[in-house]
Amino acid sequence: MTKPAVFISGAAAGIGKATAERFAAEGWFVGVYDVDVAGATALVEQLGSDCAAGGRLDVTKPEEWEQALADFAAASGGRLDLLINNAGILRAGRLTEVPLAQHQLTIDINVGGVINGCWSAYPYLKATPGSGVINICSASAIYGQPEITSYSASKFAVRGFTEGLELEWRKEGIRVQAVWPLWVNTGLLDGNDTTSHETLGVNLTVEDVADQLVAMARKPSLLDKVKPTKVHTAVGMPAKTLATLADLVPSFLTREVNRFIAKA
Ligand SMILES: NC(=O)c1ccc[n+]([C@@H]2O[C@H](COP(=O)([O-])OP(=O)(O)OC[C@H]3O[C@@H](n4cnc5c(N)ncnc54)[C@H](O)[C@@H]3O)[C@@H](O)[C@H]2O)c1
Repeated sequence: MTKPAVFISGAAAGIGKATAERFAAEGWFVGVYDVDVAGATALVEQLGSDCAAGGRLDVTKPEEWEQALADFAAASGGRLDLLINNAGILRAGRLTEVPLAQHQLTIDINVGGVINGCWSAYPYLKATPGSGVINICSASAIYGQPEITSYSASKFAVRGFTEGLELEWRKEGIRVQAVWPLWVNTGLLDGNDTTSHETLGVNLTVEDVADQLVAMARKPSLLDKVKPTKVHTAVGMPAKTLATLADLVPSFLTREVNRFIAKA
């Protein structure tokens, strides 16, 4: 297999699907894995078996990661150039309006799924020179968000996990990064209205995020050996502005800006 290979979790819909389509168009061999088997299979058929392989993966289940990665490696010639931990859910509402089990599921999928993915993919990443991981984080990891508290907490965990693993794996030649979109127009938002949507709007498309991921997937240049790659990348001007502000202004101001956005 001469094509670089990317494995995407939660690839049957939304950002994952657009990203799979975009990487396939760029000549990558794409792993389309999702708990939605029908959606994953339909996308593999659409992309063609010379461009994609895919099937079932519940990211909360380590044994399903093992199977999915083994199947993918068999189709990709053993290559895993890039793992994109994309699968995620959102359950919006004030803390006690959302059933406790849904908060727990949010953590299991959004955090556990990322940890399971990196843990299980390590041997394949290690065996593929110049490989990397991109975790889909969120602008909700800039400051804790009301009405999506457990989702926001899950993305803070993804942020911390990414930072720690980047330091661990840098010497091994495996890049670890995260992208931070603000609201993107996908099914994730269906039935999940928040005040933050109303204040900030939903201004990003799935293609915006897919473009960013393709741009980050380039092989490291000589410069990267001297200057390590950026760990976090905000997507879109509002997310870049909020992230920059949070770095520059005193924390009480960040807190007030977020209170204003959420009208809390
Ligand atoms: N949409 C946004 O506003 C937004 C903003 C920032 C970050 N994100 C993040 O982007 C990622 C993708 O979200 P999206 O907006 O495309 O959502 P989406 O709902 O459109 O798609 C999510 C996909 O993940 C799959 N999935 C859900 N649970 C899974 C599981 N246990 N195992 C495997 N697959 C599972 C779903 O079947 C679906 O195909 C998520 O991590 C989300 O948190 C989304």
